[in-house]
Amino acid sequence: MTDFNFYSPTEFVFGKDRETECGKYVVKYGGSKVLIVYGGGSAVRSGLLDKVKTSLTENGVTFDELSGVKPNPRDDLVYKGIDICKDKGIDFILAVGGGSVIDTSKAIAMGAVYDGDFWDFFSGKTAEKALPVGTVLTIAAAGSEGSGDAVITKIDGMLKRGSGCDAIRPRFSVLDPALTQTLPAYQTACGATDIMAHVFERYFTNTKEVEITDRLCEAVLMTMIKETPRAIADPDNYDARANIMWAGMVAHNNIVGVGREQDWNSHNIEHELSALYDCAHGAGLAVVMPAWMEFVYKHDVMRFCQMATRVFGVKMDFADPDTTAREGIRRFRAFLHSIGMPINFAELRADVKDIPVLLDQISKGAMRNGGFVTLSLDDIGEIYRIAARAEL
Ligand code: NZQ
Ligand code: ZN
Repeated sequence: MTDFNFYSPTEFVFGKDRETECGKYVVKYGGSKVLIVYGGGSAVRSGLLDKVKTSLTENGVTFDELSGVKPNPRDDLVYKGIDICKDKGIDFILAVGGGSVIDTSKAIAMGAVYDGDFWDFFSGKTAEKALPVGTVLTIAAAGSEGSGDAVITKIDGMLKRGSGCDAIRPRFSVLDPALTQTLPAYQTACGATDIMAHVFERYFTNTKEVEITDRLCEAVLMTMIKETPRAIADPDNYDARANIMWAGMVAHNNIVGVGREQDWNSHNIEHELSALYDCAHGAGLAVVMPAWMEFVYKHDVMRFCQMATRVFGVKMDFADPDTTAREGIRRFRAFLHSIGMPINFAELRADVKDIPVLLDQISKGAMRNGGFVTLSLDDIGEIYRIAARAEL
């Protein structure tokens, strides 16, 4: 295991109806003039937004609103939010929604206390400070409720890029599993895929002797395999929703990833798909991640056999570990298919002819070196081609 600091200061407020307490937590973390940020309407339709406003008012907190965050959130709304914060003297940002809403809020929080262009923080600069952010989560997926990361797309050039720093870790996050019961099956499955991908990005490592984090990773993966079909078959199943919601946080606040080298190439490869086609991030990952696995598994066959045997119940074939490893990958892809995820370009409505465009876009960003396997642009092209033609 390698040395690490683990910093996860967010207060998690977990349970049914806990969103009615959000005003109390805004005050606790210094907010008096709030910007509420939300998306395309699900929080309005469910009545959640009214509950949030009532709680703020009851606690003497005034607020402005910024609505209309779209999935794969874009920079235009971030600029709008920064202007509101500066004009109105906003001192706290409350995100009510999923990863897209939370990431928009985090980007606004950085930009509101910065004289330059907020995009600097998505081009390599690290933010030292930000307005405090709180969240009321409505979908278990991105893990942004407990992470120090944000992902925004710059409309000019359609560049989807990430930013990370401790200043944007939420001060508190309300996690009410009942709020996720209104999610359509497809969004539930997209979220589940993202959660599993966050674990796999950490699981495939070159660091040795990491039994504790290996086992934590496997626990989250097995939880998702058990609970996702239950939540899809019975959307109102609170217990399944609760396990998935906490799994989404655990998968990405890095408790399962400390002390080990991590990969993240599948995420970078996927981000170009969701930037180009505006597909859901989880759906893009369902296509990319098994393809990445097929491309790299020979780098450490026994690690893939560990996944296959411990997570997917494959019987170890010591005479032919390749077969065991490949069976694990096959079962992962079959699981994704079983929960309604696309598994190839056609099902994602992506076009193999766009691969040069995807590669051109990815080459403009920070090409990751290291990770589990260092990838060249040619390697990434091959992963896109494997993803394009994948079958069960
Ligand atoms: O806009 P509304 O109407 O709210 O609809 C949303 C949206 O259409 C809907 N939804 C959310 N909660 C709902 C609901 N519909 C019914 N009932 C509810 N309770 O779901 C759709 C997707 O929402 P979105 O916020 O986009 O989903 P997600 O949480 O998956 O976020 C995806 C974004 O997060 C980024 C992704 O790249 C993508 O841009 N990521 C952020 C990370 C981070 N900050 O740490 C890490 C991730 O790897 C990821 O890259
Ligand atoms: Zn993700």
